[in-house]
Amino acid sequence: MKTKILLAVCALFFSMTSMRGQNISLPAPQLADNVSLATALQQRCSQRSYDTVRPLDKQQLSNLLWAAWGYNRENKRTAPTALDKQDITLYVFLSEGIYRYDARENTLVEVARGDHRAATGKQPFVATAPVNIVFVSDTRLLDNAVMSAVGCGAIAQNIYLYCASAGLATVVRGSFDAEALNSLLHLDPAQKVMLAQTIGYPAQ
Ligand SMILES: Cc1cc2nc3c(=O)[nH]c(=O)nc-3n(C[C@H](O)[C@H](O)[C@H](O)COP(=O)(O)O)c2cc1C
Repeated sequence: MKTKILLAVCALFFSMTSMRGQNISLPAPQLADNVSLATALQQRCSQRSYDTVRPLDKQQLSNLLWAAWGYNRENKRTAPTALDKQDITLYVFLSEGIYRYDARENTLVEVARGDHRAATGKQPFVATAPVNIVFVSDTRLLDNAVMSAVGCGAIAQNIYLYCASAGLATVVRGSFDAEALNSLLHLDPAQKVMLAQTIGYPAQ
C-alpha cells in the first residue's frame, strides 16, 4: 500500500513538472562597466555573420535581456513605452526551444521545445545564429501600432548597445513571416509580431 501511494505521489510530481516545461532560471544580471557609452555608440552596427557553434551562456542571456527590457526601477523598465503601457513581450528562440522572457522572475518560460530559429526570419543566418528575439506587442495594452513600434525600437537599440559593449553581434530585422510566428507562439489576434533581432558572437 505504501509503495502504491509513493508511486502515485511520484507520478503526480513528474506530471506537474512536465506541465511546467523546462523553464530556464537566469542568474542575476551583471553588467560590467568596462565600455563607455561613447565606445558602445561608436561600435554599434548591424552584423549578419555569426559564430554558429558558440552559444550565449546564461549570464550573457541574463545581461542581454535585462539590458533589452528588464526592470531597472520598481515596475519600470530599461526601455520606454508610450503611457508606460509595457505592451511588449520578448520571445527568445534558442537551439533548444522557444521561451518567453519573464523579466520580473528573470526566467525564460518555455513556450515550445526544439529548434525553431529558422522560423524567425527569411535570411539564412537566423537558422544558425545562437539567439533570435521576436518582439510581440499586446494591442489590449496599447492599441497604437506606431507607438508600439517606437517602444520596440528603444528595446532594439538597448540590445545593439549591449552587444556593442559585450563583443556580440546583432541585427534588428523587419523581415519575417508573421503568420508562421503567430501559430508557433500560439498568439491570439490581439498580439502582434512587431520586430525580430538576431544575436550571437561574431563569426571568426
Ligand atoms: C525597422 C528596421 C528593420 C530592419 N530590417 C532588417 C532586416 O529584415 N534584415 C536585415 O538584415 N537588416 C534589417 N535592418 C537593419 C538595417 O539594414 C541596418 O540598420 C542598416 O543597413 C544600417 O546599418 P547599421 O545598423 O550597421 O548602421 C533593419 C533595421 C530597422 C531599423
